[in-house]
Amino acid sequence: MARPLTDHIFTVGSPGSLSLKIGSLHIRGNTFLAPLAGITNLPFRRLVKECGAAVVCSEMISAKGLFYNSEKTLTLLASCPEERPLSVQVFGAEPDIMARAAAEISAMGIADILDINFGCSVKKVLKQGAGAALMKHPAMSRTILKAVRRATSLPLTIKIRSGWDGSGSQAFALAEMAEQEGVDAIVFHPRTATQGFKGHADRDLIRRLTQRTALPVIGNGDITTPSDALAMLTQTGCDAVMIGRGAMINPFLPGQVEALIAQGVTRPVTASDIFRKMERLIGLYVTHFGETTACRMLRGRLPWFVKGMPGCTEVRMALSRIPTTDQAIETIQAYEYRLSL
Ligand SMILES: Cc1cc2nc3c(=O)[nH]c(=O)nc-3n(C[C@H](O)[C@H](O)[C@H](O)COP(=O)(O)O)c2cc1C
Repeated sequence: MARPLTDHIFTVGSPGSLSLKIGSLHIRGNTFLAPLAGITNLPFRRLVKECGAAVVCSEMISAKGLFYNSEKTLTLLASCPEERPLSVQVFGAEPDIMARAAAEISAMGIADILDINFGCSVKKVLKQGAGAALMKHPAMSRTILKAVRRATSLPLTIKIRSGWDGSGSQAFALAEMAEQEGVDAIVFHPRTATQGFKGHADRDLIRRLTQRTALPVIGNGDITTPSDALAMLTQTGCDAVMIGRGAMINPFLPGQVEALIAQGVTRPVTASDIFRKMERLIGLYVTHFGETTACRMLRGRLPWFVKGMPGCTEVRMALSRIPTTDQAIETIQAYEYRLSL
């Protein structure tokens, strides 16, 4: 069932003009941090939340991993009240195991939304028949949706691509099925699975989906600036945006989008803002992972933050080799001092 077109009217600078409700959950704001395996751990989610994102998403959680009590899977479910509302994403291909995972995650009391992954195109996931592979199998998709819907009363979303391949018809069919099976919203990354990350997210498919479904649609793909987000909202009529890679390098981005929606302007992020958030992230990583693991992981994260700053090559190199997190902070502060001269 399509929703009335008036629902799509969106005015910049009028707070609340784009109110968002997913099932029973009222959300203040319209930006989601995307699930990013290996990236959106608890410290990073907290950082992006503190920068103003409305909703943050976990990395994808293996339903099978949960079934077998995998320590690694359980670690990925670490959460804290400060990051709420949290969407926890599960992936899998077996309805019973998916339902058990849904029930278990609900019982943990950490999730405000449960999301099912129908979009992952990584080999490891596709091999199990999960993620985007499900878009080729509507009957199995329906069985999973039914089983998960029965297993949890949490607001339920699905994250889909435009299909395994083709024109978008698989996405439209899955969205219709989701609506019939009691799903509460759809996250749409309009690229096919065979495309991976090549080409562009096809915004026109988002526009067509919002016109076909009564469910809220969260548009995703290629948002790297606040105006990209605004363009997606206004051109497609989607209800919210989800930001992945853009937030990896600029954790302020979802918050900037919120400001643009509510006030019509965004405050530019200064170098000092970035340095303070880098220090904050270091602190959050050390608290969560401990010094050794934090240091190893931060070598891959911190260099993103200074990309594009004057004379950043040397400092990026230094950050990618930090022996301790104290050294990381010294490197950041020395660079900040150099920039101030
Ligand atoms: C490193 C990385 C990890 C990802 N992990 C997941 C994941 O766990 N679950 C998922 O549904 N999508 C995952 N994605 C896809 C993103 O959530 C998002 O749909 C995609 O990157 C397009 O959005 P963007 O252009 O804003 O990055 C991942 C993408 C990247 C780059």
